[in-house]
Amino acid sequence: MSALAILHASQLVTLAGPKGPRSGEEMSELAIIRDGGMLMRDGNIGVVGPSDEVKEKAGDVESVDAGGRVVLPGFVDAHTHLVFAGDRLDDFERRARGETYEEIARAGGGIWSTVTRTRVASDADLLEKAKKHANWFLQSGTTTVEAKSGYGLTVEDELKILRVIQRLNRETPLECVPTFLGAHAIPHDSSPDEYVDLIINEMLPRVAQENLAEFCDIFCERGYFDVAQSRKILTAAKNLGLKLRGHVDQLTNSGGAKLLGELGAMTADHLEKTDEQGIAALKSTNVQPVLLPGSVYALGSTSYPRAREMIDTGLAVVLATDFNPGSSPTVSMPMILSLACTQMKMSPAEAITASTINAAYSLGRGEKAGSLEPGKLANFSVFDCEDYRELAYWFGFSRAHSVYVRGKKAS
Ligand code: NIG
Ligand code: FE
Repeated sequence: MSALAILHASQLVTLAGPKGPRSGEEMSELAIIRDGGMLMRDGNIGVVGPSDEVKEKAGDVESVDAGGRVVLPGFVDAHTHLVFAGDRLDDFERRARGETYEEIARAGGGIWSTVTRTRVASDADLLEKAKKHANWFLQSGTTTVEAKSGYGLTVEDELKILRVIQRLNRETPLECVPTFLGAHAIPHDSSPDEYVDLIINEMLPRVAQENLAEFCDIFCERGYFDVAQSRKILTAAKNLGLKLRGHVDQLTNSGGAKLLGELGAMTADHLEKTDEQGIAALKSTNVQPVLLPGSVYALGSTSYPRAREMIDTGLAVVLATDFNPGSSPTVSMPMILSLACTQMKMSPAEAITASTINAAYSLGRGEKAGSLEPGKLANFSVFDCEDYRELAYWFGFSRAHSVYVRGKKAS
């Protein structure tokens, strides 16, 4: 049996509370223990409480002194495109000159340029790069990520990406939840209808049969997949037992949020252009909104989603990085917390809830991750600050001190 105690956190931010995603006022309740500690055995949390009590129970178990720093559950990043080759530096520079995401995509940049690079990359190259990204996440205090395919767009290339995600899960400490996003863009050499058929008839059955994804996602947007195509793909995925997420209402209000409400998706992501009706549709089936302010910021837009209205309506809001080479090149959850507070008027406590326990529930991991409670995985991060609000307050540099996954130091 391996055991470890961590003692003397200025604040042990436990997020202990009801079993389920938190909404409304609950999002502000972090269940903080001052001078807190935790005792862990075999990668699971055993005891959580004031340091003196934990110390007594720990006996001669090895202990780590948090030195008056803040300890939080490892961040759960519920929306990333972690596996890709190349970069999008040219897009970045063009955007700085004033071109839009859509104009750049039409001119040969955008998702398609990453698809081209990812298709020619070998499995080994892709895995090596993905491991580098996994390490960035761990260094920033994130211990669980959702990871999407979507830069392959052929049967074999989509499966190649999902297998890299599977290997990341086995070969790195980062816990990865796989999502199939074959419907990320329409390949240049096929018609929309042909490609939708390929997804439904060939990709989805293989993904399900080989157990390579838990979720199916789509990019429902003008110039990508319309509502009818998205409905067809998501319905087929649901029939195969996959749970649903979706990129909706990012650049235009296309009715995507309504569709996800209707289909009972786990999450609706982006929502920059979602209106009251879209918010009401999410509420009617309690779809969790996943807000991605990093992509709004990096695209140079000011159109942030209506986080306050969503929280006030009672939706269990999630925050994520949307880490990808095009629209959100960041793995930093603290940066996302900063954007959530400054641009979307969420409180620091709401932002922490959105990036831990709510995110874990949105991935079907709420029983194991997202809070520091007995029986859960000992996944936690130590930050070099005394008050959890500092995480959202200081921005642009990392304050992560150390990160543990299943009771073992991972960074
Ligand atoms: O979430 N919106 C579509 N997909 C990504 C962008 C991917 C890319 O540009 O490569 C997003 O923003
Ligand atoms: Fe995305």
